[in-house]
This record gives sequence, structure tokens and C-alpha cells, in this order.
Amino acid sequence: MTKIILITHQKGGVGKSTLAFNLAQNISASAKVAMIDMDLQGSLAQLKNVVTSFDIIPLQNEVDSIQKLNYDFIFIDTPPYLSNHLSKLIQTADLVLIPTKAGILDLLAIKGTIDLIENEGKINKTMVVFNMVKANTTLTLDILIGLAEYNVKIAETHISDLVSFTRSVLVGGVRTDKNAQKKLDNLTKELLKSLI
Ligand SMILES: Nc1ncnc2c1ncn2[C@@H]1O[C@H](COP(=O)(O)OP(=O)(O)O)[C@@H](O)[C@H]1O
Ligand SMILES: [Mg+2]
Repeated sequence: MTKIILITHQKGGVGKSTLAFNLAQNISASAKVAMIDMDLQGSLAQLKNVVTSFDIIPLQNEVDSIQKLNYDFIFIDTPPYLSNHLSKLIQTADLVLIPTKAGILDLLAIKGTIDLIENEGKINKTMVVFNMVKANTTLTLDILIGLAEYNVKIAETHISDLVSFTRSVLVGGVRTDKNAQKKLDNLTKELLKSLI
């Protein structure tokens, strides 16, 4: 059965495309993977001819066709706004990932996305992932309290702020950075576990 992972957040610059790319890349070592780019301005679709380990499919309107695609895992990257398609994409997803930075304003910015997911009854299939976390920092109490209110699962793995992630899309991943690859492996494991 195809597993569909939607990566979404109404804000830009939180790491949606970076995470989608790296997770797809990592899982493609052992599975047939596609990444669907719903953000044609972003845009991972431009890497279509460079990436060989998984398929990149540019798509804007044909949401219904996603379920008919024949892959083990389909990652869907979304634009930085609440698009018309988002409700339908949320319904289609087996897992929704929301990357966020670890600031209080960043957290407040998730609310619109969370509300939409709640309306679609998918909050129990949703995981917030902290991204671009500075070295040697832990989440502050205000962040933890703010999150508790959303009642949503948080990934144990925090993705650090690392140059290798910035470059990953160009060089095909983070393999040469052990620290980054370890984080990515841990997040991949969590993701697979929550898909069971
Ligand atoms: N963990 C990370 N460490 C360092 N830079 C990151 C990380 N994640 C994303 N970035 C960088 O942050 C910027 C925004 O990321 P991007 O994936 O384009 O966000 P979005 O798709 O949400 O707009 C990009 O320049 C990207 O390379
Ligand atoms: Mg993007």
C-alpha cells in the first residue's frame, strides 16, 4: 500500500522543501519513492532531471491522480499558503508533517494549519518537527506549553540548523555530514513508525 506523507505549513522558510527532499532521498535507498511538488514556484520540480534516486512530479491541480500513482512512499511538498487543495491533500495523507522553527512566534504561526488539519479529522495523523534548531539548545518552557495546547504529536528528533541541510538539495542529501545524517535517520525511523 502506498503511504502518502504531506509536508505542510502555511509559512515559507520553515524547511518544508528541504525536509521533503531529504526524507524522500533517505527512504529511496530501500523503497520506490516519489515527491510531488505542489509548489511550482519553490521549487523542487526544477531538480527533476538531476535527482535520480526518486521521482519528482510537478503537479498543481490533479490532486485526485495522486492516489493512483504506484509508489511505496509519496512525499507531497506544499506552497507557503493555505491553498485550495490543502483540505483534500490532508484527507489523502497517511501522515502530515509540520516543520517549524522553535520560536514562540513560529509556534503561533502553525495555528491556521493545525486548525485545518483538525477540521479534516487528521490531527492524530500529524507530527510537528522542529527544524533549524540551534546547536546546544533545548526547547524552552513557553514553547512546550504552547505546543501542549495544540494537542499534536511532536517528533522526538529535532533537525539541527546545519549548512549541510542548506546544501543538501544541491548535492543530493546530507550523507557526508554524519551528524546531519544521524538526525535524518532518526526522523525517518519515527516517520516510518508512525505510518504503521
Ligand atoms: N535544518 C536546516 N539547517 C539549515 N538550513 C536549513 C535547514 N532547513 C532548511 N534550511 C534552509 O532554510 C531555507 C528555507 O527552507 P525551505 O526548505 O525552502 O523552506 P520552505 O519550503 O518551508 O519554504 C532554505 O535556504 C534551506 O536551505
Ligand atoms: Mg518550499
